[in-house]
Amino acid sequence: MTSTDPFRIGLLGHGTVGGAFAELLDGRADEIEARTGRRPELSGVLTRSRGDFEEILEGSDLIVEVMGGLEPAREYVLRALNAGRHVVTANKQLLAEHGEELWAAAREHGVRLRFEAAVAGVVPVIRVMQETLAGAYIERLHGIVNGTTNYILTEMARTGEPYADALAAAQRLGYAEADPTDDVTGKDAAAKMAILARLAFGTPVSLDQVIYEGIEQITSDDLAFARELGLGLKLLGTAERVDGGISVRVHPAFLYAGHPLASVSGPYNAVTIESPAITEITLSGPGAGGPQTASAVLGDVVSAMVPPAPTPEPTSALPVITDVESAFYLHLEVDDEPGVLAQVAQILGLQGVSIKSVVQEGMGEKARLVMVLHPVLESRFAAATKMIEGLDFIRATPRAIRVLEEQFVLCAFLLRCPGCERSPGHPRAARHHRAAPRRG
Ligand SMILES: NC(=O)c1ccc[n+]([C@@H]2O[C@H](COP(=O)([O-])OP(=O)(O)OC[C@H]3O[C@@H](n4cnc5c(N)ncnc54)[C@H](OP(=O)(O)O)[C@@H]3O)[C@@H](O)[C@H]2O)c1
Repeated sequence: MTSTDPFRIGLLGHGTVGGAFAELLDGRADEIEARTGRRPELSGVLTRSRGDFEEILEGSDLIVEVMGGLEPAREYVLRALNAGRHVVTANKQLLAEHGEELWAAAREHGVRLRFEAAVAGVVPVIRVMQETLAGAYIERLHGIVNGTTNYILTEMARTGEPYADALAAAQRLGYAEADPTDDVTGKDAAAKMAILARLAFGTPVSLDQVIYEGIEQITSDDLAFARELGLGLKLLGTAERVDGGISVRVHPAFLYAGHPLASVSGPYNAVTIESPAITEITLSGPGAGGPQTASAVLGDVVSAMVPPAPTPEPTSALPVITDVESAFYLHLEVDDEPGVLAQVAQILGLQGVSIKSVVQEGMGEKARLVMVLHPVLESRFAAATKMIEGLDFIRATPRAIRVLEEQFVLCAFLLRCPGCERSPGHPRAARHHRAAPRRG
């Protein structure tokens, strides 16, 4: 083989992404040849009904895996890496469950395993974390990494329609699959957050260590009350350093309007990366779609054709912490009688939970008590809601949704904070300034 030989790409999967990739490659081959000195071309395609994996592997310099699923994708990717082939994959479930095994194989054989399209589609968050921020100490990530649920929540807030109707609209428009389970339960976002946490903290994180919940229980009522409280709802992924360990989770969360992710609407994705040295950066764009995802896959292919990019190696073994502090929105359906708020407040107080704001609405059968609480350990909040649920005047299971407290007042970073007297360059200044006012 000489450096002028074509660069041979074996394509595993020819569906939404694979089909778009083949088309894009065809259209961009001249340009890529001019830039890299080698012409990329498809050497074989595997689907359920055509192609032979052994032949494709034998005749390829790089394998693109866009089949999805765990097996046989895992077996094929591993075989390709062990045979000294670079691999590009868009498969988040595969990386979240078997990433360590695959990255180890890539390191052992000195080949590249690239996966930009596995998280947030064409948004270049993987490359930014692996390359641009390779020297930064990342403290926290927040992500809207599932376009289906973001579309559904955006529509529920915009039209007031119930969850089932918004889901049906998403399916009609192709934003949700016929079986939307992985999206609406938060599992898809959990896999992506496991991959991001792995890169951010250099510690192995598997899908079963990510706590996740979905959006099926969200009502349009919650969204209407939240608007009154100045909040917008997102299915939010969080990966952060906590007490010498890390916490990785996905759940619905209310954001205040000033948060950089609050304005991300429809099927778009976005990730906010926080680090003392850089304050924070937010990357956003289309999170899915054939041509968009194919573009990210092709970017990975081109980068594998030119000099090295790192394969992530574990640099630490941090414990995963499950009980973290969160602020909550609490929605109670109550009997319309005196002393209701006082009794609820007393129970919350016993568990160390303090109330930030309250809306009381309705009479008789329709009376509601909706509040936003200050941050507290989630186990203490759970204990309080269990006690509240047992009160005579509670008419339905309490609904709770987390609220992100940070309000991101960006200009504060430029000024000396009157509260703490930290100067602009202080590593803790940005976070301190962004934190919303707490109790009192
Ligand atoms: N769609 C998106 O917008 C998007 C965005 C980001 C990431 N991704 C990821 O990209 C991957 C592909 O998604 P997609 O939407 O393109 O899926 P898709 O439309 O269902 O296409 C899957 C392709 O893989 C082939 N395939 C599946 N199992 C196979 C097997 N056991 N042996 C041989 N071929 C097999 C299918 O063959 P047949 O044609 O014979 O059925 C089909 O051609 C997934 O990992 C997904 O999570 C997708």
